[in-house]
Amino acid sequence: MVIQSETRSLDARMNKADLANNAAICDLRSDTVKRPDEGMRRAMAEAVVGDDVYGDDPTVLALEGQAARLLGKEHAAFFPSGTQSNLAAMLAHCGRGEEVITGHGYHVLASEARGASVLGGIALTAIDVEADGSLAPANIIAAIKPNDPHHPVSRLVCLENTHKGAAISLQAMQMAGDAAHDAGLSVHLDGARLFNATTALGVQPAALAATADTVSICLSKGLGTPAGTLLVGSAQAIEQARRWRKMLGGGMRQTGVLAAAGLYALEHNIERLGDDHRRAETLADHLIKLGAGDPKQPPRAATCMVFFTPTEDEHLAFRAAMAEQGILLGGQSRTIRIVLHKDVDDAKLKRVCDATSAFYEG
Ligand SMILES: Cc1ncc(COP(=O)(O)O)c(C=O)c1O
Repeated sequence: MVIQSETRSLDARMNKADLANNAAICDLRSDTVKRPDEGMRRAMAEAVVGDDVYGDDPTVLALEGQAARLLGKEHAAFFPSGTQSNLAAMLAHCGRGEEVITGHGYHVLASEARGASVLGGIALTAIDVEADGSLAPANIIAAIKPNDPHHPVSRLVCLENTHKGAAISLQAMQMAGDAAHDAGLSVHLDGARLFNATTALGVQPAALAATADTVSICLSKGLGTPAGTLLVGSAQAIEQARRWRKMLGGGMRQTGVLAAAGLYALEHNIERLGDDHRRAETLADHLIKLGAGDPKQPPRAATCMVFFTPTEDEHLAFRAAMAEQGILLGGQSRTIRIVLHKDVDDAKLKRVCDATSAFYEG
């Protein structure tokens, strides 16, 4: 059996210790590869903790309260990961034999091992995704099943923002959410990178969150924590999700250590997401000016990500040349997702620009 992951696709010449300690490495595989900085580590070390399964951890309670306030929802629960938070939300909204309608390529469908189906007996149905990454109201409505025992009961629409880096407008989100609600369905928003979306769109987090009943927000991506995702929603939905979290093995104990990182991130790391977006634009512009890659798929920035497609002929050589310079790129496909994050400053960005110039201009 061949198992592939972002980590296992690493250049075999680099061992893990090199990766962790080598400041010369510029890791662009994902925003999940960043490391907690000094301030965050101090906050973690100083966290007041208790047993969160007993509801005793004051730092977790503070983080959950802060997230609920920020997102304009009644309650929040702190999860180990985005996958578990999305799964618990789907299980909280849907029963066995019910259906989640979501987009082709959305993370809950494409990258979470269909946990809702495997563990919850929930059908996942995919509909087309529009060019801006949104779900069209007409497509949502068309996918809702009639009340007929030949079909699962349509119960939930799962939206995503950002989708593949693209920030979907508040209006498109409202239209999708309204279509679902008007038809009597609930809405979950996979907002793993919600703050990237609000930063790019210039909208309040609560405004985007208001388009859905529950929202999942990862702290461990651009916000820079080692782990953790917040699920926000009504008191009832969060209570249900907490039951599922325990059953899924996500009841954590003195997790205030992680929650402290989350509180630190909400205070210090939201605004700086704009720097990642600016650097992504700079890199995409640089590649465009170089005339680099497949002219049919020009380089494109989307919040913290750049999508770059070298030609068939140069693809492998491009990847090898970057690896040679200590620049790590994820995946294996010809369209390369390059992700800017907290540990890529202007100096590192310049190195990436210089390495691409050297490859294309010699
Ligand atoms: C859109 C989206 N949703 C959910 C997740 C899952 O998050 P986690 O890796 O914490 O399980 C990811 C992870 O990259 C994601 O990109």
